[in-house]
Amino acid sequence: MLPAALDALARDYPQLQVVFGMDDPAEAVVQLATKQVDLVVADSYPGSPEPTSGDIISTTIGEDPIRVYLPEHVPADVESLARVPWAMEPATDSSAEWALRVCRDMGFEPRVRYIAPDLLFQLRLVERGLAAAMLPDLVVGEAGTLAIAYETVQDHTGLPLLTPMSEVAGRLAAHAAAAQLTVHEGGPGLLLGGVPGVAPCRVLVIGGGVVGTQAAKIALGMQAEVTVLDTSPRRIRELDELFGGSVRVLMSDTATVGTELSSADVVVGAVLVPGRAAPKVVTRDQLSLLKPTTLLIDEAIDQGGAFETSRPTTYAEPTFEVDGIRHYCVANMPDGVPRTSTRALTNATLPYVLRLADGVEDALGGDQALGRGVNTRGGRILVDGVAAAFPDLPAEVSVPVI
Ligand SMILES: NC(=O)c1ccc[n+]([C@@H]2O[C@H](COP(=O)([O-])OP(=O)(O)OC[C@H]3O[C@@H](n4cnc5c(N)ncnc54)[C@H](O)[C@@H]3O)[C@@H](O)[C@H]2O)c1
Repeated sequence: MLPAALDALARDYPQLQVVFGMDDPAEAVVQLATKQVDLVVADSYPGSPEPTSGDIISTTIGEDPIRVYLPEHVPADVESLARVPWAMEPATDSSAEWALRVCRDMGFEPRVRYIAPDLLFQLRLVERGLAAAMLPDLVVGEAGTLAIAYETVQDHTGLPLLTPMSEVAGRLAAHAAAAQLTVHEGGPGLLLGGVPGVAPCRVLVIGGGVVGTQAAKIALGMQAEVTVLDTSPRRIRELDELFGGSVRVLMSDTATVGTELSSADVVVGAVLVPGRAAPKVVTRDQLSLLKPTTLLIDEAIDQGGAFETSRPTTYAEPTFEVDGIRHYCVANMPDGVPRTSTRALTNATLPYVLRLADGVEDALGGDQALGRGVNTRGGRILVDGVAAAFPDLPAEVSVPVI
């Protein structure tokens, strides 16, 4: 902040002679009161005393939120905060006095193992997993961290690092349906694929992307009668080719959704519109079209939900009822099969990790997919969706979207 201010002074007031020095804030205020200097820029913390001399005019030039940064493996609860080693400024600094007060107000005494006035040094300790620290946004922003997000690494096939999780979640939808239709899970007591002489269940998948295709594939493998709806004519043709007539593939529109809902035993919501909340493909009114035994599985719940009546759940209590209709809305389905999920994710990420290990700049320059994954660099946000979510932070949106 101060180099930018000095630059502006030099540009706008070239006649002004500026002499700059750094000092302890309390000492600087004494120099101001005794007229040895004309201006002091200091930080203060809630609860710390303000300068009292009558001659001093003080004004707030900005507020800088301070957040707790934890090593990656440390959960954000009070017991963990009490256990983890901390990095703090020397105890005589008003920042450390304030930080200690905050910890004690939360009910724990921090184990201060690293004492350092340099906040960038503290940030590096956190990055290496050595300590927790309280750091202001200005410092973290200036650190220029290069952050690559899985969900924006983008190649010609789509989002290669998200695909494995969609594949896992899609396949799991058929497992979840089969389990939730049994009486022991509170279901109507139906076998997904029926048996010779007894009709199979009807599974309606809305959205035929990665999740929907995998859900349809496994449901079909379990002998269910499967229908997939999508709005993309190209995707509909691809699915028709892929399933060769064993799955009904239809254009999704309001009338078709209404007709298909009335005969479905299971409805899987698997729609996605990149960068937006999931479209609501089943409204609350449409619940009355369903059989009372129909199970709704909302895979798009992590994007706000494909059904108007959905809310996120976990494996601990995966279902709830609205108007008598059971909803299954587990927001992190791959979590149920961590061994498979981790292997699948590692298969996709390892090639990128190896390229980065050979040299970050070469990897980013030589691989457009990875380049699109860069979310922050040089204290700026580089992806427009992320910049829109944090309008107060500096951004430089230049990432082309394919
Ligand atoms: N719950 C979980 O654990 C979990 C895990 C992985 C993915 N997901 C979610 O599942 C959803 C689907 O992901 P994906 O990877 O299959 O996406 P995808 O982009 O591969 O497929 C989405 C499909 O939805 C279609 N679509 C869009 N709007 C539609 C509409 N109004 N009606 C019908 N079809 C429509 C698109 O044409 C596309 O084919 C996403 O919301 C994703 O976040 C959830």
